[in-house]
Amino acid sequence: TFVVTDNCIRCKYTDCVEVCPVDCFYEGPNFLVINPDECIDCALCEPECPANAIFSEDEIPAGQEEFLKLNEELSAVWPNITEKKDALPDYEKWDGVEGKIQYLER
Ligand code: SF4
Ligand code: F3S
Repeated sequence: TFVVTDNCIRCKYTDCVEVCPVDCFYEGPNFLVINPDECIDCALCEPECPANAIFSEDEIPAGQEEFLKLNEELSAVWPNITEKKDALPDYEKWDGVEGKIQYLER
C-alpha cells in the first residue's frame, strides 16, 4: 500500500485524489489518508503530491512509521474524497514544517 505522511497535515493539496484509479483516499479536517485494503499499489498518486507526502509502505521516512497504522485506522472512519478541492488556507506556511502530527485533527 501507499501511505500519506506528515507533510500532508495542514496543507491537504488534494491533487492525489484526482489520479487514484480506485478512489481510495479518505478525508479528515486537515489530512488525507489511503485505505490500505483498497490501494492497488499503482503509484500514480506519489508524484502528484506537491508536498511529497505520499510514500510506498516500504519507503516511509524514518520516524514516520506510525502513519501506516494511522492511514489504516482513519480511512475506516473518514469519508471518501474523489475530487480535488482548494488546499487549506495556510498551506504555503505549513508545507515543509516538520512534526505536524501534533496538529492532526480527527
Ligand atoms: Fe490510489 Fe494508486 Fe495511490 Fe494506491 S498507489 S492510493 S491505488 S493512486
Ligand atoms: Fe495531502 Fe499531498 Fe494529497 S498534501 S491531500 S497527500 S496531494
